[in-house]
Amino acid sequence: MTDLQSRLANAPVVPLVQADDPEVAIATTRALAEGGLTVIEVVLRTPAALECLAAICALDDDLVVGAGTVLSAAQASEVLERGAQFVVSPGLDDAVVGVAQYNDVPVFPGVMTPSEVMKARSLGLNTVKFFPASIAGGIPALKALGSVFGDLKFMPTGGVSAANLGEFLALDSVLACGGSWLTPKTDIAAGNYDEVTRLAREAVAIAAARGER
Ligand code: 3PG
Repeated sequence: MTDLQSRLANAPVVPLVQADDPEVAIATTRALAEGGLTVIEVVLRTPAALECLAAICALDDDLVVGAGTVLSAAQASEVLERGAQFVVSPGLDDAVVGVAQYNDVPVFPGVMTPSEVMKARSLGLNTVKFFPASIAGGIPALKALGSVFGDLKFMPTGGVSAANLGEFLALDSVLACGGSWLTPKTDIAAGNYDEVTRLAREAVAIAAARGER
């Protein structure tokens, strides 16, 4: 088992970190880790995102840091140069997958249809992001996909929260869930990192109820 796999087996939740400032990104990441979440996805949605990613990757903390919202092969290369240990994309792009695979880094492209799942399989992937999970059919859709594609694992994101995390994680086909509910913008803007830690702890407790896989 890789470090990423064993961390996700233990705490199958991937929080999104979106920040304009590396110091804020670091504080958010440390608040999450304090709550037990050490697999972090830094999303490329701000002008400073690459700088934030590099700052978190440079920490000597016990983390696995990846990059999300990676939309192009160029961005995939940029995040790997900054130390990303996995790549997440909202959709399935051959070139993004290719850059990650060439560099031997796990990649989780987003899918929402059976055809996209088949395309991902044909690219040699065994884990995909299911996005946007709530709009793409949520738990019933994942059950249907899971019954057809028994050799694949899914990472639902998009509309996941503490309210439905347990239901998603109850599915055998779900490796982990991701989302932004763990890093509320208003709390972070107010410097209320205790709330980030509280949300992380809550997610860890919900996940613990399903046991390690
Ligand atoms: C993602 O990139 O995974 C999504 O933006 C997460 O969706 P959420 O904000 O509803 O958690």
